[in-house]
Amino acid sequence: MKVAVFSSKPYDKESLRHYEVTEIAMQYFEVPLNVATAHYAQGFDAVSAFVNDELNEATIEILADGGCKIIALRCAGFNNVDLKAAENLGVKIVRVPAYSPYAVAEHTIGLMLALSRKLYKSYNRVREGNFSLNGLLGFDFYGKTVGIIGAGKIGLLVAERMKAFGCHVLVYDPYLCKTCKEQGFEQVPLDQLYEESHVISLHCPLNNDTHRMINQASIEKMRGGVMLINTGRGALIDTQALIYALKSRKVGYVGLDVYEEEGPLFFEDHSNDIILDDNFERLMTFPNVLVTGHQAYFTKEALEHIAETTIDNLLAFKRAEPLKNEVVLPN
Ligand code: NAI
Repeated sequence: MKVAVFSSKPYDKESLRHYEVTEIAMQYFEVPLNVATAHYAQGFDAVSAFVNDELNEATIEILADGGCKIIALRCAGFNNVDLKAAENLGVKIVRVPAYSPYAVAEHTIGLMLALSRKLYKSYNRVREGNFSLNGLLGFDFYGKTVGIIGAGKIGLLVAERMKAFGCHVLVYDPYLCKTCKEQGFEQVPLDQLYEESHVISLHCPLNNDTHRMINQASIEKMRGGVMLINTGRGALIDTQALIYALKSRKVGYVGLDVYEEEGPLFFEDHSNDIILDDNFERLMTFPNVLVTGHQAYFTKEALEHIAETTIDNLLAFKRAEPLKNEVVLPN
């Protein structure tokens, strides 16, 4: 079985090579997968793709014409895939449902702490011999209310960790969360979470219901000076509304690992380029905004799980076994 692996960085190759089997021949392409690059997969039985690859109808059509029967996502989210088109073209979609929820949860907490104590500022200051504490005043998480949107694998781990800090944890999830009740997290309506939380952290999938759920109207409902953290997907937040709320000081702290228009920027070195995304550059000017480049998942353990599950998914397809990680259109 020939597999074209797109968006493959040296660290992806290294982890996948560790799990490779003779039945599967991987060829690595560093370019992202989109309508312009899909022809590289001509003659391949399968394709492996990552978070910012553009698996729209046109791309999947080229892949299917070239002989591709299965797309193995090396991620959990599938918001970048046109599932209807894949189904119509007879192309299966499989994913890695959980590679390390701990990695993402720990990075989320890292963003919260770095922002509350301005660690990114003190790092630079001390290296330059500046030991002044002016402007570094932080706040205790102890006693604060933390709102978690999406009580899945990652959201619940963040909730547990913030509870251990002595926070009151509110959770919003459209589905009943048994674990929330057992662990003493209060499941509340979304508006109540917006109104009461000092910190709001996003852990729901990106779909039609959640697209730009953090917008001018929802921000208006929040406490002044709220800390917003997004390690979910960039388009959960309306960036223009966020910039406006930062300028008016309604939002006091922002930690992002994902960004609405991250596709052309993230995972590449643009340090010698002129970045043309004015919204991103405006975000970078705020002293209370901390952005990491979709790094929350990036631990040794997570890369191993991604590689192992991707190979297992492809092998199951090759051997005509049930695809336990198949993504199917909801009824
Ligand atoms: P999960 O599927 O275990 O949990 C998602 C939760 O969101 C579920 O409990 C679901 O009921 C809930 N949900 C669905 N619709 C909702 C809505 N409208 N409002 C609020 N909650 C809603 O997923 P998991 O593993 O916890 O991942 C969460 C998200 O984190 C993924 O969808 C992905 O976008 C993102 N992610 C980011 C990574 C990164 O490196 N930054 C890595 C892995 C995942």
